[in-house]
Amino acid sequence: MLSNELTKRLGIQHPIQCGTMQWLSKAELVGAVADAGALACIASAINPDPEALREEIDKTRAITRRPFGVNVSLFPSLSASDIGKLISTVAQCGVGILETAGRSPEPYRDQIKEAGLFHIHKCARIRDAIKAQSLGVDAISVVGMECGGHPGEAGLGSMVLIPKVVKSVECPVIGGGGFCDGRSLAAGLALGAQCINMGTRFILTKECPGHPDLKQFYLDSQAADTMLVMGSLKNTGRVLRTPWSEEVARLENQGAGLEELAPYISGQLARQGWADGGKDKGLYYAGQVVERCQDLPSVDQLISRTVAEAQEVINGLAGA
Ligand SMILES: Cc1cc2nc3c(=O)[nH]c(=O)nc-3n(C[C@H](O)[C@H](O)[C@H](O)COP(=O)(O)O)c2cc1C
Repeated sequence: MLSNELTKRLGIQHPIQCGTMQWLSKAELVGAVADAGALACIASAINPDPEALREEIDKTRAITRRPFGVNVSLFPSLSASDIGKLISTVAQCGVGILETAGRSPEPYRDQIKEAGLFHIHKCARIRDAIKAQSLGVDAISVVGMECGGHPGEAGLGSMVLIPKVVKSVECPVIGGGGFCDGRSLAAGLALGAQCINMGTRFILTKECPGHPDLKQFYLDSQAADTMLVMGSLKNTGRVLRTPWSEEVARLENQGAGLEELAPYISGQLARQGWADGGKDKGLYYAGQVVERCQDLPSVDQLISRTVAEAQEVINGLAGA
């Protein structure tokens, strides 16, 4: 058993989080991960209306009786009152775990604390982690620049970022960016993280609701097939290289601003692609670790083999 203070407080068995993924972190994936004893959060950005969130929570509860969380994005695409309502819904539905990401959680800390939620804040910079800790969050999740999704603007890889954050804060740390198996789980624990966050790896599971053609595209991709876009908007994203993402980079190099880029970077395009398998339009987030994800196990198989391999690696290092 690789349990620790954080797994105990979260009520999970294994120190693994399925990174929250827009369009994918829905009931079927979140429920399967929770049922296998790890942590996952519903991406509320998929359904930013409290009633739809309530339904997704109910659907997840129909799959598992184990704990799971909800991710609320603090990017300014929602108004402050919408964010406040989503947080209230999480609490009213009795979901005990809230993950925030995207901006400082300061405006919502009092509400989250009063609601008694276990608050994980996700960020990519050391100074944001220190700030979140000063606001009293319960755990900090950090991602290195190799991650899929938004690696932040500091450009630090997981090997540098995770131990630095562990040393800089007192609360438990979840480390992400580049994790996919037991060997990397053991490495994350050795770096001082109490849990690892794997996103890209969970796309390639049976229960992930992405279209099989897109999963095959990920299976066929290497680390060098990922690229960074949206740095000019200070919202860097690591995505798979496609003619569409190359076009976004070209427009950025030409000095295009948000207005010109908006139709190219809208998340709604990827929503369609994840549903119908087309990748001609939209941005498809992926970490460098895509190179190491070469099969399509069930969530339960992935989690159990990851934990078993990590235990074997740790025992091997200890000479047991
Ligand atoms: C397809 C995809 C979509 C993502 N969407 C979100 C999101 O909506 N919110 C969020 O906080 N992180 C998002 N992320 C980041 C993941 O939660 C996680 O932090 C990251 O994937 C970890 O790095 P890895 O890909 O190297 O495992 C996304 C990542 C991927 C691959």
